[in-house]
Amino acid sequence: MTPKLAASILSADFARLGAHAREAVAAGADWLHVDVMDGRFVPNITIGPPVVRALRPLREETGALLDVHLMIVEPERYLAEFAAAGADVLTVHVEACPHLHRTVQQIRELGVRAGVTLNPATPLVALEEILPDVDQVLVMSVNPGFGGQSFIRSSTARVRRLRAMLEACGSKAELEIDGGIKPSNAREAAEAGATVLVAGSAVFGGDVAANVARFREALAGR
Ligand code: DX5
Ligand code: ZN
Repeated sequence: MTPKLAASILSADFARLGAHAREAVAAGADWLHVDVMDGRFVPNITIGPPVVRALRPLREETGALLDVHLMIVEPERYLAEFAAAGADVLTVHVEACPHLHRTVQQIRELGVRAGVTLNPATPLVALEEILPDVDQVLVMSVNPGFGGQSFIRSSTARVRRLRAMLEACGSKAELEIDGGIKPSNAREAAEAGATVLVAGSAVFGGDVAANVARFREALAGR
């Protein structure tokens, strides 16, 4: 099955965010990926619930899910606010959640898809117990914090191992990869078992329609 492409708005032009995001969806991006950073869990500060709320009409119109990646400490404090703003998926970092099971339950109780993720150096086993309870798992293929970084090579093997772990527990969760994804490595990520590819700079840098078309070509026949 062809993996979904999630356009990370972190690399969009924030001065014309709605139009730029719309361009990506019109070009064929399946989801919009929203990177929330607090300057504490990661060094960068980005955006919060108002931006998710502002994108919600586009989501209603096009069906492109709002995939919200929380790179913040104590994410449980903000889950309700992001759900009310219109997030479809809320992904939290295992490193930020000492009570991950409770946090995942909270997300599901809000009627939102629950996602979990981990930094590149965190062992996958940290997710093993929670896998049956989540709707999505995200493999970070850069250290979170910034767009435009280089893909960490070992991430493909992590996707492959997580795919096997998901199969072992009979999970149908989406397996997403985020960071340094380009048309040149998209196929490799898909072949390893990723079902959602996040791309920021490779979608919004330059001609959006041509960029998305390049991803489609790279993934054709998958
Ligand atoms: C990084 C973010 C990514 C980022 C990806 O912390 O989680 O979603 O926007 O950007 P690219 O595709 O440019 O690596
Ligand atoms: Zn992200």
